[in-house]
Amino acid sequence: MKRVLVAGGAGYIGAHVTQALLDAGHFPVVLDALYTGHRDLVPPGVPFVEGDIGDRALLKQCLSGQTFDVLMHFAAFSQVAESVGFPLRYYDNNVGRTAVLLDEALMHGIRDVVFSSTAAVYAEPVGERIAEDDPLAPGNPYGSTKLAVERMLVDCEHAHGLRHVSFRYFNAAGADLLARRGERHLPETHLIPLVLQAATGRREAVSIFGDDYPTADGTCIRDYVHVADLAQAHLLGLDALDAGAPSRVFNLGNDRGFSVREVIEVARAVTGQSIDVRIASRRPGDAPVLVADSARARLELGWTPRYTTPEVIIGSAWEWEVAEAARVASRRIPSTR
Ligand code: UFG
Repeated sequence: MKRVLVAGGAGYIGAHVTQALLDAGHFPVVLDALYTGHRDLVPPGVPFVEGDIGDRALLKQCLSGQTFDVLMHFAAFSQVAESVGFPLRYYDNNVGRTAVLLDEALMHGIRDVVFSSTAAVYAEPVGERIAEDDPLAPGNPYGSTKLAVERMLVDCEHAHGLRHVSFRYFNAAGADLLARRGERHLPETHLIPLVLQAATGRREAVSIFGDDYPTADGTCIRDYVHVADLAQAHLLGLDALDAGAPSRVFNLGNDRGFSVREVIEVARAVTGQSIDVRIASRRPGDAPVLVADSARARLELGWTPRYTTPEVIIGSAWEWEVAEAARVASRRIPSTR
């Protein structure tokens, strides 16, 4: 059983992985500045330290009081369009502060790292699916910052023996199967929660950002992968490092793409709601098609995603979204005093 420092464990993916660590008998401790994360998404009972991954004094305090076997690093800004508008904010947070975090981790004896990377590191694909050895050429600053950290890890391995697994997520989606947590980005920018918010009535309609892409129906294609399956992959990554496997990069996706229009159609079927749609202009930084070839994770880690259909992914997100809508509505009820 491992003691795991989970940087960014109050965010969408980090909190699901923290729960999976706990369920598997590991000992996670969450470090999160709550810039985009939420305290209530951290599983009850998990020690929580509020702070920035670039805060050396805090890191020293956190890392000297206890020993950790592994660092899992989810703490990053992750919106493609925002990164296009504010690249330095992304380089500062995602790269600069990660250097501080890794430096302190190394100084305190941590030698194993599991890192959240992204499909946004790849060049525009030539084939149908993208494999790990395909050309890297991020189309936006967000992807550039993640690739910079992947390279930082490789350099730290040469210099300091830091072993690492980097997971290149495709589109993380869905929610905890017991509806304990799900997506809550403020403001929300991700397709599935926005579509579902239109279904609950929290939004009037959903915008399709571009219907003139070179795809069958003109809308962008993405590979949506259930967050519970991502969490499972992290446990396997931990096992691989524990077994002495060499550092490795893995794609995590379902190897099947769905267009924005297809996602909206499935959401209409799952929710039974009509969901109004508007066509808007393209969003900066968006690639037309991103679909994984994740054979490496399946073969080498034994990763078998279980919640692969868009119906199951969107169905779990829907349960969470209905609960979120009720929470938001209850906060809006005016005081009777
Ligand atoms: N989209 C819409 N309308 C919306 C929101 C999104 O049409 O209101 C479209 C986007 O243009 C895109 C697709 O839906 O084509 C998916 O968009 P998301 O914002 O849900 O996700 P992204 O593909 O932009 O990005 C996500 C993560 C990134 C990661 C990327 C990798 O947020 O961190 O997946 O595939 F890099």
